[in-house]
Amino acid sequence: MDTFENRNAYITGGSSGIGLSTARLLAGAGANILILARNRHRIDQAVREIEGARKSEGQRVAGMQLDVSQHEEVDRVMAQAVDRFGAPDLLINSAGKAVPRPFEEISYEQFDDIMKTNFYGTWNMIHALLPHMKERGGHIANVSSMAGFLGVFGYADYSASKFAMIGLSETLRSELKQYNIRISVLCPPDTNTPGFELENRTKPPETRAIGGTAKLLEPEVVARAFIEGIRRNRFMILVNAEGRFIYLVKRCAPWLLDWVVDRAVKKAQKQ
Ligand SMILES: NC(=O)c1ccc[n+]([C@@H]2O[C@H](COP(=O)([O-])OP(=O)(O)OC[C@H]3O[C@@H](n4cnc5c(N)ncnc54)[C@H](OP(=O)(O)O)[C@@H]3O)[C@@H](O)[C@H]2O)c1
Repeated sequence: MDTFENRNAYITGGSSGIGLSTARLLAGAGANILILARNRHRIDQAVREIEGARKSEGQRVAGMQLDVSQHEEVDRVMAQAVDRFGAPDLLINSAGKAVPRPFEEISYEQFDDIMKTNFYGTWNMIHALLPHMKERGGHIANVSSMAGFLGVFGYADYSASKFAMIGLSETLRSELKQYNIRISVLCPPDTNTPGFELENRTKPPETRAIGGTAKLLEPEVVARAFIEGIRRNRFMILVNAEGRFIYLVKRCAPWLLDWVVDRAVKKAQKQ
């Protein structure tokens, strides 16, 4: 996707954090934006912010209430969206959450909710919109995480959901090329968002220790790398040099990463 001018971008989770920053930057690049989330008040606030970031007043910005985890609701609301807004050229699946806890403290209900929001939510959106995107080609960009290629202490449910998103993305990269639909998957490190603040409320000390001294990124920085990756048709989008280095080590010398992580966990447990 070499230009965003006059393109329709649907963004789940576009009312907050990484989704909202991405929506603002895409509006600045000339795209029409439709954000999807549950909380009406936050959607309305975000729509005003995104309108303020538009390149020209002719661009459309709208928000619709949607729970991505509910597949019948997604089918129904997306049919209305395509009718009113036009089919998407770009679908960004950013809606997601994490509630870090040790495995034994994760209830079945929490596991179910995390999988349904992060993974099923992505599946539901693609399933509902693919028939419309196939007609004209486009780009689907899924927001996974660095915990989508590293199993991180405290993220048993979250990591599983984000690994699943990468598996889905890899399959679709191959399957949808024939329709001129490109796939990207973003794997951000810790990012300073309202969602990250919530995460910190339950984060075990071991999980904090693994995060260590890594710099907390601002969502605008992540969104900029995301959009640039989409523009260049990159499959795996890693935000910074540190992320790229960790990804490389995970693929080439996973034992080295295990050794570093085990040391951090042991140290946190001693303390
Ligand atoms: N922040 C980080 O450190 C970090 C790192 C790696 C990956 N990520 C991933 O990046 C994505 C965005 O995270 P963020 O930190 O920007 O989160 P955030 O600030 O909490 O924003 C989450 C967005 O998703 C929406 N959402 C949540 N559940 C939803 C549902 N069931 N249906 C529809 N919308 C829903 C929220 O709106 P409503 O609550 O109103 O629905 C909100 O707009 C997530 O997938 C997250 O896993 C974040």
